[in-house]
Amino acid sequence: MADKKKMSVAEILAAARSADGKGGAPPSAPQAAVESEPAQPAVEKPAAEKLAADKPKPAAKPAAGGARPSTADILAMARAKKEAGGEAAAKPAAAKPAAAPAAKPATAKPAAKPAAAVGAAKTGVQRDTASILAAARAGAKPGPVSKADAPTRPAPKPREAKPAEEKAAPPRTVATLPSKPLKPAKKGEEAEDRRGFLQIALGSAMAVGFSALAVTGGLFSLGLARFMFPNVLAEPPSKFKVGFKDAFPSGKVETKYVPQYGVWVVNGDFQGLQQIYALKTVCTHLGCTPSWLEAEQKFKCPCHGSGFYKDGVNFEGPAPRPLERYAIRVADDGQLEIDKSKTFQEELGQWADPDSYVTV
Ligand code: FES
Repeated sequence: MADKKKMSVAEILAAARSADGKGGAPPSAPQAAVESEPAQPAVEKPAAEKLAADKPKPAAKPAAGGARPSTADILAMARAKKEAGGEAAAKPAAAKPAAAPAAKPATAKPAAKPAAAVGAAKTGVQRDTASILAAARAGAKPGPVSKADAPTRPAPKPREAKPAEEKAAPPRTVATLPSKPLKPAKKGEEAEDRRGFLQIALGSAMAVGFSALAVTGGLFSLGLARFMFPNVLAEPPSKFKVGFKDAFPSGKVETKYVPQYGVWVVNGDFQGLQQIYALKTVCTHLGCTPSWLEAEQKFKCPCHGSGFYKDGVNFEGPAPRPLERYAIRVADDGQLEIDKSKTFQEELGQWADPDSYVTV
């Protein structure tokens, strides 16, 4: 009877799985145990027994239930299988009392899921949720498929390399930054242009100011020098030599010194004395320069017609007085030396002065 009841449970489970549309007979507990761990049949039994002793709940359930779960429990398990497909493969195996010792080591968390996946792959019918998710993750994402596969992935290494690149990247971003702050750069350029313009304007203004100041200083210096050293006419010296007495024969009026010195040198007679004297070439009327007329033996003023004799006494025209004489003497070398710094006027009786003539 007990065997019939067990079989009835398996049949119910098979019927429930077939009702899900997934098809295929579920692997029985012994079969699952064999598929999951075929290489450790004899050695793991004591270990499975120990584990069963340490975990009495799964082993005790069949014992407490007398290996006779109720139909409601079986239906609940079947319904739970509908919701979680892969978990159903393990639970029937755990439900069986005979397979429990062998299945528990196989259903250990790290080994149970791969075993179920292998069984499903072999049958090609059933796949638990973990295997499906693992297959999807393995095909879609490079990330870890499961906790067991995660440590084997070398993914963290490239992620660690990125910060190193990012650390090296800042200089690149700094190099590309000047393209963004164009507005501040334009403002800076405008400010620099303004500063340059102001500097040029101020510099030019200062240069003009300093130039004007320098020119003014130069002009002031020139004026001061002009004031300190005024122009002086390049007049001929007041004393000059005209040669020996022999160069001036009696009755001769020498006119060659008129242009340079304004002097007539005359060898003539005055009041019964033969003398050599020097007449000033300035008309006593208004200062014009008379001309010696050899033919008329007189000095004639072109301005107002005044006339003077050879001795310089005025006789016609508006001239009020005779011409003046310069001082004359015989120099140390025997030449006649005229000194224009001294003048002698006849109306004043100065022609009697021996410095106003040289006797012949
Ligand atoms: Fe000689 Fe008048 S200036 S006559």
